[in-house]
Amino acid sequence: MGEKQNIIWHQSTITKIDRQLQNKHKSCAIWFTGLSGSGKSSLANALDHCLFTKNIQSYVLDGDNIRHGLNKGLGFSQIDRKENIRRIGEVSKLFVDSGQIVSTAFISPFREDRLQVRELFPKDEFIEVYVKCPISICESRDPKGLYKKARSGEIIEFTGVSSPYEEPTNPELVIETDQLTISESVDLIIQYLKIKRIL
Ligand code: PPS
Repeated sequence: MGEKQNIIWHQSTITKIDRQLQNKHKSCAIWFTGLSGSGKSSLANALDHCLFTKNIQSYVLDGDNIRHGLNKGLGFSQIDRKENIRRIGEVSKLFVDSGQIVSTAFISPFREDRLQVRELFPKDEFIEVYVKCPISICESRDPKGLYKKARSGEIIEFTGVSSPYEEPTNPELVIETDQLTISESVDLIIQYLKIKRIL
């Protein structure tokens, strides 16, 4: 008999619905995916700021930051990225259970990994946002100088250069960051949240 069989789920006293009612808004995960330099973090943080000023319970989980702590030790092989995304999916689910709107900014390049995360949530609690931007523009932005290092071979398995990025096939939203300002992009997301009666 595996040890797992001695672990029994404990139902919490306060439910997700109780928390949502107290917060006066629903909770969900807003999953930003896109190339490095596409604008995921900027967008997630601008949205977070906008929600915060509206007294909405919101938080951002960002790839670069999470890799300093919770996911320290994971690299950029396909297996490590998969584990990175799996863990963040689970953490996001906890945030949603706590009644918050959690925005995640991870490249999450593999369709299968994103699908696995999606399946953790009821349909209306997972919003995949494809932060779309041509790689040539991401590369010209190169805010951390990583594309340059990837092109010279100093960084291996760099998304879009030496490791694949699988575009979302059916995301809830596509934001073209070479066409819209950050503020226009945030407006689109807020509008979506209102249409879906999350706000
Ligand atoms: S993933 O693919 O979802 O597991 O990646 P993520 O956790 O979002 O981390 C991406 C950030 O790590 C930096 N970085 C790299 N990105 C892609 N490929 C390689 N090899 C790599 N090495 C370091 C980079 O700063 C990414 O941040 P963003 O914000 O996407 O530019």
